[in-house]
Amino acid sequence: MLRFTQICIIQPCVIPKIIVLLQKCKNMQQPFVFGVPADVPYFIGREKESARLEANFRYGVNTVLMSPRRWGKTSLVNRVARGASGKERIIVQMDIFACRSEYDFYNTFSSAILKQTASKIDEWKDLAKGFIERLTPKISVAPEPGSEYSVSLGITPKTHAPEEVLSLPEKIAQRKGCELVLCIDEFQQVGEFPDSLAVQKRLRSVWQRQKHVSYCLYGSRLHLMTRLFQKKSYPFYKFGEILNLEPIPLQTWIPYIQGRFECFGKHISEDYVAKICDTVQYQSSYVQQLAYSVLLLSEKEVDDTSFERAVEDLLAQNNTVFIEQTQSLTTYQLNFLKAVMDGITSGYGEADVRESYNLGSPSNITRLKQSMIDRELVDITTEGMVLGDPVLKLWLKRVLG
Ligand SMILES: Nc1ncnc2c1ncn2[C@@H]1O[C@H](COP(=O)(O)OP(=O)(O)O)[C@@H](O)[C@H]1O
Ligand SMILES: [Mg+2]
Repeated sequence: MLRFTQICIIQPCVIPKIIVLLQKCKNMQQPFVFGVPADVPYFIGREKESARLEANFRYGVNTVLMSPRRWGKTSLVNRVARGASGKERIIVQMDIFACRSEYDFYNTFSSAILKQTASKIDEWKDLAKGFIERLTPKISVAPEPGSEYSVSLGITPKTHAPEEVLSLPEKIAQRKGCELVLCIDEFQQVGEFPDSLAVQKRLRSVWQRQKHVSYCLYGSRLHLMTRLFQKKSYPFYKFGEILNLEPIPLQTWIPYIQGRFECFGKHISEDYVAKICDTVQYQSSYVQQLAYSVLLLSEKEVDDTSFERAVEDLLAQNNTVFIEQTQSLTTYQLNFLKAVMDGITSGYGEADVRESYNLGSPSNITRLKQSMIDRELVDITTEGMVLGDPVLKLWLKRVLG
């Protein structure tokens, strides 16, 4: 009875607002996500890129998707793939980060295709019959019908020629009477395989002849991706449409971050949302991570004190990783990083730069550059060399002064 009277006190005009708030916060376990691909309700923006990617999937146009790491490639592809998958089009996704050689790749490639194009184990066996006759794949099937099964294929140069593996998706597409879109994450790994150019040639020559299969190739290591797809002498030159993922703009972050704070009974002004984005240079993952720290460390309203504490918190969370990344650097390498941090993007071999940053002899410079790239501490962009990780930059500023 008491409860009834309380409900009656609510003004009818606020009911729609409450409903909206409840809908917004429904099923929300976490205020923000980072470190894993973002999905509803944490996925925002990317309308233009989603529409383009979806059209490419639909019309079988190959796409090459590039951005620095943790800007949102995997999240975008996952989301578009889910919407575009159906009976007439199957989207296969794989991550080849762990592949170190051509045949490593073929195993990952085939098992992803076989697994994701068949809905039932019997269908899988049937589809792959010709392909697996020479193999004894380990297939483990979970007890309940319809649940996951895992496939481990032992493809080697003795069992399969590369062309046979590479033409598997076209055969499956024909047999099933559908189109396939193969999304290959961390594709830059192919550029690191032994005898990589020959491998790239084989891939391209088979793939470009396929009529029912298209490809979405994406990766983070920009200089490697650029070399693979934008150098005329490389086999994948002009393989597909190049899509560069831009940062999510402030106007998209504002309602999202304010909405999250609202759900948790707190408030953040537009200025502080902008401060979050600027501090981490709009890198999507760090925006979400810093917003999370700000939320936790603020009372009802975000202020300078809680914001500063949140930045400290973000640095502290990354401390161990950054120490690991930098502890074995030589003095020259640290000096080089300092030059990059100060905004020097090229011309490290010039006498005044070498002297003011103590970079050693001119012959040292090429080696220094390469070592920084190999360790993924710097990226080569159209503007030249930049520090890839904005939070590492903040951290280094403190450490190096
Ligand atoms: N569209 C998006 N909206 C909001 N946050 C995003 C979006 N895309 C990515 N993020 C943030 O970035 C993180 C990394 O995304 P991910 O897709 O794994 O990046 P990438 O594949 O480029 O390394 C996610 O955990 C999330 O915090
Ligand atoms: Mg990714």
